Order: sequence, then structure tokens, then C-alpha cells
Amino acid sequence: MPIPIVQTRNLTKIYVRDVIGTEFGRLKIRLKNRKVAALKSLDLDVNEGEIFGLLGPNGAGKTTAIKVLMGLIFATEGTATLMGKPLGDKSVKASIGFLPENPYFYDYLKGYEFLNYYGQLYGMSAAARRKKIPELLELVGLSHAEDLPLKGYSKGMLQRAGLAQALLNDPKIVFLDEPQSGLDPFGRKEIRDLILSLKEKGATVFFSSHILADAEVICDRVAILSKGRLMNVGAMDEILSARIKAYEIEAMNLSEDMVSELEKMSERFIRRTKTVLFVVEKEEIALAIVKKIIASPGHLVSYTPRRETLEEFFIRNIEPQNV
Ligand SMILES: Nc1ncnc2c1ncn2[C@@H]1O[C@H](COP(=O)(O)OP(=O)(O)OP(=O)(O)O)[C@@H](O)[C@H]1O
Ligand SMILES: [Mg+2]
Repeated sequence: MPIPIVQTRNLTKIYVRDVIGTEFGRLKIRLKNRKVAALKSLDLDVNEGEIFGLLGPNGAGKTTAIKVLMGLIFATEGTATLMGKPLGDKSVKASIGFLPENPYFYDYLKGYEFLNYYGQLYGMSAAARRKKIPELLELVGLSHAEDLPLKGYSKGMLQRAGLAQALLNDPKIVFLDEPQSGLDPFGRKEIRDLILSLKEKGATVFFSSHILADAEVICDRVAILSKGRLMNVGAMDEILSARIKAYEIEAMNLSEDMVSELEKMSERFIRRTKTVLFVVEKEEIALAIVKKIIASPGHLVSYTPRRETLEEFFIRNIEPQNV
């Protein structure tokens, strides 16, 4: 078995918040410590070359997990390795790209200057930067804005600039914390395509999101976090196919008598222009309907077991949290 490119064991992060309580009138100031367990004993294995989605509602601990892996904060307990080496290893850092959740950039820098500056931080030569930066600006759709200061960028443009920054060093593994936040549907699709193209080039992509539909399309595997705890991890179809939500049967040219008979057997019935659709929860009833349609003069157009979407899985399994 190859060593996972990202591995965490018992990774735990407890934040201690100082809460200052004041009581005016009698002027009393109390300093209380409130502990927040943001990550609870997280065990994760991410394989090389996969697109791995860390999913969960607000406050689930996604950013905390990424910050620990990036060495920006320290775990309270547990261990983690990146590319088989302990966190903080310099050679590993050189092979990592990172887009933080709310990136703050020097906004008087122009798009090109910004990437040039980060390229220098990565230790890239001037020639390498001259070659790479235009390619990246093109890749994220910002070539037209290379001479514009970042303070004139929209949120979506800043997100793209941040993404270009994360790819400067041709990373082996890219960590993206909510890469699609602030983007319109076109922008989200572009980021999805970009993530897929990174995978094609052999990179591993580890990203967090609560835009479940996007994760559903591109992730090889996902981990679902809730209140700092890992609820589920696996390939999307493993997590979801376990539960077929309903069967949809579409037919045409049925007699009205047949339609009303089948409607009575179904949970839902939809009349479309040319066809009728029966939605049934139980498989045996769905199959009985199919048999009746086949035996009638009508036509069966389609029979589709509809699995639960990730969105539905989320809502069924995970409570929203107080953040
Ligand atoms: N610096 C901090 N000090 C104290 N508590 C914190 C700190 N950062 C995060 N938390 C708490 O840790 C928990 C997890 O937060 P985190 O930012 O990791 O969640 P998240 O899954 O990234 O959420 P979101 O989807 O909103 O970005 C939350 O309850 C949050 O309030
Ligand atoms: Mg976050």
C-alpha cells in the first residue's frame, strides 16, 4: 500500500477563548476561559492523485484542519504527515500550494506584481516567473487584469488571483479552503474544471467546501465533518449509493385508466407534455408498475433508481451547529 499523501491520526484541536464578562453598575470584570473543541480525534488518509473534499457545515472544523496541516496553528493532540513527513518539513512545504479561506493580499499590488512577489517568496528565478505568471493568469482568466491593482478586483477575481498564487510552484498537493466561495456559477464551474485539470496533471487536491453540488461532481472521495468529528469518509458513490431514495418511472401513451391506477400506487405523480412520471419509494412497487406498463399498449420511457444527493445526505445526517 502506498503511503497516503496526507495522513492524520487522532488530530485534535481545542481553542481556548478568553471571554471577558463585564457587569456595569458594580464594575466587575471577569475573565473566563471557554474551550472550543474544533477538531476531535480526526483520522484521515488522502491518497496521492485524488481530489479529496472536506465537507461540513459552518463551524465543522474544516479550516482548523487545513490550518493545522499548513502549520499555521498547532494541534492540541495527535499527529499528521504530509508526503510521509511530519508537519513543518521544509522540502514538503516547497511542494505545497495553499489558498486560505479569506486571503488577505497587498491590494496596492497589480495582478502581475502580486504573483511576481509570491513567486519570489517561493524562490523562483526571474526567468521562471516570467514564464509561469502569464500562464497562470491565463489559466485563472485574469490576463486582462494583470495591470490592475488588486484593490480594483471583485471578490471572484481575488479568489482567482489567490488560486493562481497557490499554483505558482507547480505543487504536488494543493490545499484550497473554500475555493468556490464568492464565485458565480460560471466562476464555480471554472474552478471545478481547474481542479480537474490539476488532477489530470497528477496533483492531489484537498479542498474544503459546503457547496455540496460542486463536491459531488469532482471529488474522488469526501470526508464529512460535523462539530469537529468525522462522520463519514469514502468515495461519493459508497456514501450515497447505500441509499436509493426513490425510483422514477417515466412512460407515455398510457390510457387514462392506467394512469390513475398507477398514480394510486405512487408517492408522487407528474404529468409532463408527452410523458407521465411516477415516483415510488419501494422497489417492489416500482417493479410492479414497470410490469403493468410493459403489459399495456403504452411505452416505458425510463426507469431510474434515484440515489440520495449529497445535499440530502447532509441534511439527513448532520445537524446545523451554533457557530
Ligand atoms: N481562533 C479561534 N479561536 C477560538 N475558536 C475558534 C477559532 N477558530 C475557529 N474557532 C472555532 O472552531 C470551530 C471550527 O471552526 P472552523 O473555522 O474550523 O470551521 P469551518 O468548518 O471552517 O467553518 P466555515 O464553513 O464557516 O468556514 C468553530 O466553532 C469556531 O468558532
Ligand atoms: Mg472554514
